[in-house]
Amino acid sequence: MSTLVIVGTQWGDEGKGKIVDVLTQKADYVVRFQGGNNAGHTLVINQKKYIFHLIPSGIFWPQTVCVIGNGVVVDPEVLINEIEKLKKEGLKIDSDKLLVSEKAHTIMPYHKALDLAREKKAKKNKIGTTCRGIGPCYEDKAARKGFRLIDLTYPEIFKEKLKIVLEEKNFILKYLNAEIIKFEDIYERYIKYGEYLKPYLTDVSRVLWKAKKEGMKILFEGAQGTFLDIDHGTYPYVTSSNTLAGNACCGAGLGPLEIDLVLGVVKAYTTRVGEGPFPTEIKDKLGDHLRTKGNEYGSTTGRPRRCGWLDLVLVKTAVRLNSIKAIALTKLDVLSGLEKIKICIGYEYEGKVIDYLPSSLIEMSKLKPIYKDLPGWKEDLKDIKKFENLPKETKLYIKTIEEYLEVPLYLISTGPERENCLILKNPFEN
Ligand code: IMP
Repeated sequence: MSTLVIVGTQWGDEGKGKIVDVLTQKADYVVRFQGGNNAGHTLVINQKKYIFHLIPSGIFWPQTVCVIGNGVVVDPEVLINEIEKLKKEGLKIDSDKLLVSEKAHTIMPYHKALDLAREKKAKKNKIGTTCRGIGPCYEDKAARKGFRLIDLTYPEIFKEKLKIVLEEKNFILKYLNAEIIKFEDIYERYIKYGEYLKPYLTDVSRVLWKAKKEGMKILFEGAQGTFLDIDHGTYPYVTSSNTLAGNACCGAGLGPLEIDLVLGVVKAYTTRVGEGPFPTEIKDKLGDHLRTKGNEYGSTTGRPRRCGWLDLVLVKTAVRLNSIKAIALTKLDVLSGLEKIKICIGYEYEGKVIDYLPSSLIEMSKLKPIYKDLPGWKEDLKDIKKFENLPKETKLYIKTIEEYLEVPLYLISTGPERENCLILKNPFEN
């Protein structure tokens, strides 16, 4: 097994960063293929907390090369700050350690301004974006009005195109009652970003193709989650990229038959940030309890996450959409101490039982979750090192999930530290 894609099976924040970090120990490359600095992963290493938004999670393992693929939208300022922060920690972040696709699109100041202005104007109809300019940047990519990182290294061409694009953006910004953006405030700054990033820019597709041929271990790290996917998520309350495993190929430049395994990360309960449907949301004190105990606050925006019971209908849909053949279950420790735990195993919709998520928001709003009640457990799971030693109620919870999904469990995360993880099977080991 040489290529592994890791994706979230819910609405993001499943704890993918931790799983990627644990598995990267055996990986030669870790690759981001979509999203941008709307994502955020928190890693706790030696009790010190690190939050990154663009740099892949494997950065702390000495042998791993970190790659940002063409499908990512890059805010150069954020990327440069992350590189500098890592350098301050004493890490050598040179062009052998970090590769960035020259084809990746650049988030521009007007993308952020547009994101913010639209959300403000939409008021109660807002999406609840991270306001990082992600959507407007992908829009420009599709409209063929975007700038790839490589474009920043050709000042004259960049200058001409920027003048034209900016005129249109300022027209829209004015309409949205937002401040216009001056050419002078972008041009020099972005040329400097281009100079800084130039050594890291490369044709990622060729590098990965060669690595795959040589049998290197490549891990593709998905950002956000299945139900934030632009096509298959709870549209329009989604992000602007395809978050599914299939996009690892387009977003990094490898063909679909080069992927060996897809691992889905399932949080032991469900969360989402921003607006949008959430059938198993818990709106009372129990939801607050999960938020506090699970530290469910966005690592990008700090917003409190909405919390609810595990929804297996969603997760099983994610299994289908992503070809998931292995599961990592995270944050199981957060459920310790609950008397009773519920798992959603179907929905009631207009008097009928269904086992899928309908496409329309109106239909989604009418879903009533059907729950299976399971007994809780009191024990703290953090220091349990063997599956056999888990409380019997925890094992029952895990078994229920595995049986419903018909996918084997490979890893169980029982706390925030690297060490709090039971590895039942490492996909990179035969
Ligand atoms: P955008 O990606 O900033 O355009 O935001 C669109 C939606 O995706 C909003 O509901 C965000 O809260 C959500 N979102 C974006 N990135 C993440 C993430 O990494 N975790 C969870 N939600 C996210």
